[in-house]
Amino acid sequence: MVTGGFTVAIDGPAASGKGTISRALAAHFGFAYLDTGLLYRAVGAKVLDGMMPEVAARQLEKDDLESDALRSPEVAQEASRVAALPEVRAALTDFQRSFAARAGGAVLDGRDIGTVICPEAQVKLFVTASAEVRAQRRYAELSGKGMAVTLEQVLADVLARDARDSTREEAPLKPAADAVRIDTTELAIADAVAAAVKLIEAAQRR
Ligand code: DC
Repeated sequence: MVTGGFTVAIDGPAASGKGTISRALAAHFGFAYLDTGLLYRAVGAKVLDGMMPEVAARQLEKDDLESDALRSPEVAQEASRVAALPEVRAALTDFQRSFAARAGGAVLDGRDIGTVICPEAQVKLFVTASAEVRAQRRYAELSGKGMAVTLEQVLADVLARDARDSTREEAPLKPAADAVRIDTTELAIADAVAAAVKLIEAAQRR
């Protein structure tokens, strides 16, 4: 395994706030940020276009991560489906590990960062929130982007992905034994970020 950088591993279910927290932490500490969900979304989008999942994962390029269409609920569901395939996960592992090991520090968020991709991460967070609050947040985000969705659809989407992501055999969504849990159901994101900043500063002093 590649080791060396200071790594912050952030896992949690869909729309828990982990992306927002990760971006804020990366900006605060000057770390690089990788949204690993985008890798699976990009593979999912290619599969919806007719490509084989394993081939799509092996051929993934930086440009594939840029499209706004990756945020759609259809792509999210397909991402969750392809993410259960061991060959797809294996094809994306090295890239994530090298990103984590880069000099200058890195924040990675996803489902299996603290458990599988970076078990040696200096700081591990598991960000959660109730399904209702997560659905509300994702609904506001998607309708804000002009997507035609209902709250019920978004809640169903979030619950279906949670169930699939946490019951799959390969790298299921679960907190690492040494992860610190942050529940954002009633916690403002700014307060969650402040708590995480303290944890990272403490880990940097060790
Ligand atoms: O974080 P996200 O909602 O963009 O992720 C989309 C899907 O990708 C998610 O439902 C499961 C999968 N995923 C995964 O299996 N492992 C990761 N590290 C990140 C995402």
